[in-house]
Amino acid sequence: MQQQTPIVVVGAGTMGTTLARLMATRAMPVTVLDIDGTRLAHCREALAADETLSSRVGFAQDWSSVGAASAMIESVTEDLALKRRVLAEAERHLPATALIMTNTSGLSIDALGEEMAHPERFVGAHFFNPADLIPAVELVPGQLTHDATVAQACQLLRQLGKRPAVLKRCVPGFVANRIQHALMRECLALLEQGVVEPQALDDIVRYSIGVRLAINGPLRQRDLNGLDTHLNIARYLYAELEDRHTPSPLLETHVSEGRLGRKSGRGFFEWPQESAEAQPQQERELLRRMLTLLDEESAS
Ligand SMILES: NC(=O)c1ccc[n+]([C@@H]2O[C@H](COP(=O)([O-])OP(=O)(O)OC[C@H]3O[C@@H](n4cnc5c(N)ncnc54)[C@H](O)[C@@H]3O)[C@@H](O)[C@H]2O)c1
Repeated sequence: MQQQTPIVVVGAGTMGTTLARLMATRAMPVTVLDIDGTRLAHCREALAADETLSSRVGFAQDWSSVGAASAMIESVTEDLALKRRVLAEAERHLPATALIMTNTSGLSIDALGEEMAHPERFVGAHFFNPADLIPAVELVPGQLTHDATVAQACQLLRQLGKRPAVLKRCVPGFVANRIQHALMRECLALLEQGVVEPQALDDIVRYSIGVRLAINGPLRQRDLNGLDTHLNIARYLYAELEDRHTPSPLLETHVSEGRLGRKSGRGFFEWPQESAEAQPQQERELLRRMLTLLDEESAS
């Protein structure tokens, strides 16, 4: 991988902006491409505070002003047909050796790559928001992805300071979103059944399993607890757990009433403007501190 050839990030939204920040922080030149000039302007504004960072980021509204690139990360809206079009167009403009990645949250890599001329150089690289801070990236090969592509993507991600975790095969939602949605299905069922209030539920998860999961992960944590104990509980509990195959009515109602969370001022909780605006920066600071602690722990 030639370091000085820019990486192209397609999509200047929430993820594209933090992907650009990640690369610029690691001194990798990056070009952000978005068809929407307003989104590009917001992205430029978000990176403008740091002159060194912003000098490493280029902006483009189409491929004609992109030039040579060693790799591309597609990070446009989560829509299969749109992503397919974007990938096909990228292939026409990128050199034959360029690595092509998608930041889809869980769409099939095979379906996304179906119209590509060279799907062997295409791989899922699922970052987490904010992409410049969260270390893990799920690397998801399709059936046609070459091993060399996965190795190339791993190398690039390590250069970016990430912890790539390779899946053996692609499943809908990959690993993280499957686990996140299984957790939320149960949380929503507990709220619907009137077992607990939102604040109490969040407190229980944050200050019990949440902190332990950050330290150990679910499987190591179970090893520490004892698998026999886990099995004993699983035997009587599974019949009680939520297993619906459609989204929870509570979630449907919240969304239809415009209770979308921080961005609309109301979700499970109220989000007055001041706390809604302050929250992303506060969370970034906490994340930095927690990740520093975890890094120190794993280095010792
Ligand atoms: N937001 C998250 O927490 C998160 C986390 C991990 C992965 N993802 C995934 O990352 C991708 C982007 O998500 P996001 O939250 O940044 O979305 P977003 O809506 O904030 O941004 C999407 C951007 O894509 C641009 N776009 C649409 N069509 C385009 C085209 N043809 N060419 C170039 N740009 C185009 C839009 O103008 C917009 O700026 C999605 O696949 C999403 O599932 C999101």
